Amino acid sequence: MAEPDRGRLSVALVDVSVGHEDEFLALATAFETILSRKGYGSVRTVRDEGMPLRFYAVRHWIDAGAAERCHGDADVQALTAKLYQIARVTHVVNGVRRPDPVRLMLDDRRARIEPDRRTGFDRRVKNEGRTNGERRKDRARRLGPRRLRDHAADVDLIAAARRAREHADAAFSHFKVGAALETADGTIVTGCNIENATYGLTICAERVAMFKALSEGHRAFTRIAVVADTDAPTPPCGACRQILWEFGGNLEVLLANLTKEKGTHRLKDLLPLPFDARLL
Ligand code: THU
Repeated sequence: MAEPDRGRLSVALVDVSVGHEDEFLALATAFETILSRKGYGSVRTVRDEGMPLRFYAVRHWIDAGAAERCHGDADVQALTAKLYQIARVTHVVNGVRRPDPVRLMLDDRRARIEPDRRTGFDRRVKNEGRTNGERRKDRARRLGPRRLRDHAADVDLIAAARRAREHADAAFSHFKVGAALETADGTIVTGCNIENATYGLTICAERVAMFKALSEGHRAFTRIAVVADTDAPTPPCGACRQILWEFGGNLEVLLANLTKEKGTHRLKDLLPLPFDARLL
């Protein structure tokens, strides 16, 4: 039995898409089974009687280490990826990490969507006029997503992109692509390419992921993984680079095929001298 002061509590608010309640309840049962069978802790799924299709996933971890192992567990990640396909998940209590006042302040700022390069449609409207290579110092330094994310390795973004690729509809090129976009709060939103008989209406995996995320209210992003079944890495096309830059800023771009990682880039290196709202 865990010592009371080592246990940790996390609560996530889960808004299930219409028509997916049964699927969600089955996933919730599978989560419960895995968490107790593998000794990570326990989870209770509580229905919000006042709001249709809203649930709270209340997770008690044995300790912080169990929570970390659980986040890195491939079976749990597979269930989480399925959950993200049918529900919007918002973390409301995260007892696993120590409360970090800077993080809380930033989350609050992000929630209010203040003018910030990375947090809304109004980002990048101001050209700060800094010369190339000059970095902001101390308080002027922007606290970006990299500093918001503590455990990047916990989330297997590439695995999520590989799974998303399986949904690709590439009847014309037969070139299937999957993408997984990570938001600043750790949510993964996936996409795949969807082709069209008129060819020109085809949309790439990266833009599907970004538009899905934006349409669900996400406004701050950290990384995107792109997967294709080729030996050479498949980098985002020019149109996707533009969209990713405008809505995601200087994302980390992870490229991989079905078995290997093929390198990591920063979006600013893939899109030098970008056009964006600062120039309008
Ligand atoms: N495609 C993507 O989805 N992402 C990329 O990064 C490159 C290309 C898609 C578009 C089209 O459906 C197919 O791959 C061939 O170009």
